[in-house]
Amino acid sequence: MTAHARSGIILAGGSGSRLAPATLAVSKQLLPVYDKPMIYHPLTTLMLAGVRRILVIATPRDLPRFQHLLGSGEQWGLDLHYAEQPAPEGLAQALLIARTFLAGQPSILILGDNLFYGPDLGAQLHRAQTQTVGATLFAYRVRDPSRYGVVELDPAGRPVSIEEKPARPRSPLAVTGLYLFDAQAPAWAQTLKPSARGELEITDLNRLYLHAGQLRVQTLGTGNAWLDMGTHDDLLDASLFVRTLEQRQGVKLASPEETAWRAGWITDAHLRDLARAQAGGAYGQYLQTLTEQENP
Ligand code: DAU
Repeated sequence: MTAHARSGIILAGGSGSRLAPATLAVSKQLLPVYDKPMIYHPLTTLMLAGVRRILVIATPRDLPRFQHLLGSGEQWGLDLHYAEQPAPEGLAQALLIARTFLAGQPSILILGDNLFYGPDLGAQLHRAQTQTVGATLFAYRVRDPSRYGVVELDPAGRPVSIEEKPARPRSPLAVTGLYLFDAQAPAWAQTLKPSARGELEITDLNRLYLHAGQLRVQTLGTGNAWLDMGTHDDLLDASLFVRTLEQRQGVKLASPEETAWRAGWITDAHLRDLARAQAGGAYGQYLQTLTEQENP
């Protein structure tokens, strides 16, 4: 673990209504993205950042299924905790639910339906974590910013405005679902009022940091991919993206087993045990080949 690694939160609640009927019986973040459950993506992004202590927040209906899938996290060198979000009352509510878990420490929050992929992601995340005062956002240029939170930067790269799904975006930079917050975030989230759509908006929390002069933005370059999976088309695009890279290169994206092994959190022997437990399929066979071919 890096000295500055903070505690993580994965927000994996919500009604999933936009993906119905696929989500009528199972949470969106448990649906497969090609060959793995969606939540493996945000989970391994946090792991890449060196984060090992993580709170998974989900609906009361689905939380037991996440616990079944991810367990204590010990098998991957992690320390996983769980909490319910009874109703989808906004992304900023995650910080209120996580308050006791965070115990006055800074955090890194990721949305359960966000997929990040890129060569310098780990380095960017490690760099952002060295800041212990303020909040850091990750921005990504998109064709259709009005679907997202949008941040406008001055020529020096400092944020000047942040808006949620503006009809007329002031910039092409979407705010991705990955946020680093300092220790005061739960207290600031407590002061928020529900928006017109009845939610505690993460954009309103970020605006408090902006007005306090404590908001930083790191832009993810064009060599990186950021996908969210809010619609059926997004989900299919993400599955095809994962399949294309995996089949072309003979790798697996977002494998908690491999990520833990490469970080040195689990041994070769332990990885082989995990591979054996899934030996029936291509995923287990891939894990099996890892320790035979190379060292982390
Ligand atoms: O994906 C990035 C975008 O996420 C940002 O650009 C926006 O600023 C941010 O508001 C958010 O926008 P979305 O429209 O994607 O938010 P949505 O309501 O779809 O929620 C995102 C995920 O979080 C979704 O998987 C469901 C989950 N969720 C949502 C709410 C409102 C919860 O777990 N709890 C909630 O209360």
